[in-house]
Amino acid sequence: MELFANKKQFKRVVYVYSGKGGVGKSTICLNLAFALSNFGYKVGVFDGDLSTPSMPNLVKGLDFTKPIMKGVIVLPSRYKNIALTSSGLLGIPSDGTFLSGQYLKGALYQLLFGVKWDIDILLIDMPPGTTDLHKELFFSLKGEVLLVTTPHSTSYEDVIRGIALIERFNIPILGIVENMSYVKCDNCHHNIVLFPENSKKVLCEKIGIKYLLSFPFDSQVSKMASRGLPYMNEPNLESSTASKYLDLLNIIISSGGDRNVPVSE
Ligand SMILES: Nc1ncnc2c1ncn2[C@@H]1O[C@H](COP(=O)(O)OP(=O)(O)OP(=O)(O)O)[C@@H](O)[C@H]1O
Ligand SMILES: [Mg+2]
Repeated sequence: MELFANKKQFKRVVYVYSGKGGVGKSTICLNLAFALSNFGYKVGVFDGDLSTPSMPNLVKGLDFTKPIMKGVIVLPSRYKNIALTSSGLLGIPSDGTFLSGQYLKGALYQLLFGVKWDIDILLIDMPPGTTDLHKELFFSLKGEVLLVTTPHSTSYEDVIRGIALIERFNIPILGIVENMSYVKCDNCHHNIVLFPENSKKVLCEKIGIKYLLSFPFDSQVSKMASRGLPYMNEPNLESSTASKYLDLLNIIISSGGDRNVPVSE
């Protein structure tokens, strides 16, 4: 079908993924998109969570344009250099309707391949789990995977389950990011470790996954998220959170070689 022939639009695709729910995939995906956008990259964000999309809520405080259906083509929501598609912005039923696998697959193809993206890099905010939808995504679009976990061992175990799925599709893994690892004390500025477990080392050494960096728990991030304002849209550049996002941005960019095409002047 011609609509789906435009897979060629994607020079670079990064899946933000974890087997575990609630670890910060959407938060990291969106803030990474804003970090890249601040540096002049044209970024696409595809909300891969088709039945329970988070993105509309996470950007509700910003003036994203409304997505438009132009024939069979979707013109994505846009804000600054960011293009976004989410089933939540195109009216997926939320009235208790059961969404069949076939329906979700149709939505996936429409909102991913039926889109006029015009971007340099696509970030995919993955839902948790190892379902048919994950299989469909990993199968239909080659990319790299950025794994996200929280510091406790149960989360790491779900990451391992996810890695097994990714390896079946021969998709390269950029590495793992640990989220909400510590809190910076406002008084003494020391880092308070929240889960003093050694799962990080165990996982990374055992499976050979590169440990990239850890994000602090930052109440500003969650407070702003609940108002629909991504932290990295107007970050406090002195904060550890902002500096970690810049580190992550550098890791992503430096691993992409000539697949990173900056926005033409
Ligand atoms: N570093 C952080 N500091 C403070 N709060 C955070 C941080 N990262 C994520 N959160 C908060 O944790 C909650 C879960 O984050 P998020 O929705 O991004 O997780 P998720 O992995 O995408 O969840 P799901 O599996 O449901 O898609 C949100 O309320 C978010 O604001
Ligand atoms: Mg999410």
